[in-house]
Amino acid sequence: MKIAAFAVLTGTALVLLAALSHSALPPTWAPEFTSDGQMKMPENYREWVYLSTGFDMSYNPAMRMGHHMFDNVFVNPEAYKKFAETGTWPDKTTFVLEARGAKDKGSINQAGNYQGTDVMAREVHVKDEARFQGKWAFFPFDGQSKTAKMIPQTADCYSCHAAHAAVDTTFVQFYPTLLPIAKSKGTLSAGYLKEAEGLAKK
Ligand code: HEC
Repeated sequence: MKIAAFAVLTGTALVLLAALSHSALPPTWAPEFTSDGQMKMPENYREWVYLSTGFDMSYNPAMRMGHHMFDNVFVNPEAYKKFAETGTWPDKTTFVLEARGAKDKGSINQAGNYQGTDVMAREVHVKDEARFQGKWAFFPFDGQSKTAKMIPQTADCYSCHAAHAAVDTTFVQFYPTLLPIAKSKGTLSAGYLKEAEGLAKK
């Protein structure tokens, strides 16, 4: 009897301990893929670290959208912490760029724009060194899709990000809390530094 009671007690203590240590540790993020190589949408990305919002950003002078757009950028918290310490992105870093249409008429608003509730697209940029040849890959999700096929490495997503992005193919120069970190850690890419130098001379 005594032994049984002891077993029950230690059992309960172990369960409690497990519950405590579990709640103390944040869950670590890792991207998930289906058996045919599609990426699963990280559904909780709205709880991640917010980096910036672009308004009507366009990479091409000839590109006119005819309507205003916002893009909100998020990164998983583990990667953000590592970046703050080192100015570099660890394996499994995942970004979500969420595109929303701009609204101007609603409630008390008299001027300017705010974001609509409809998500138009979500683009994911993910680092998985073992899985992808170039370490990083892009996945296009629409407002609802739960899985997406990888964009082929030949797409211009890869070449523009490789040529112009400030740190490891990510556009840190447009993320105001990250640019000073990359500067102080000396992790800005040679391509970006050269481009910035050229702009400063103009
Ligand atoms: C001509 C250059 C260019 C091309 C082509 C391009 N991007 Fe980007 N991308 C940018 C810029 C600039 C930003 C920063 C956006 C901001 O500040 O809001 C960005 C940011 C992103 C981000 C946020 C994470 C990061 O890496 O900074 C994702 C995700 C993304 N782009 C996906 C794509 C996908 C998918 C494609 C191809 C379908 C693509 N991009 C093509 C210039 C480009």
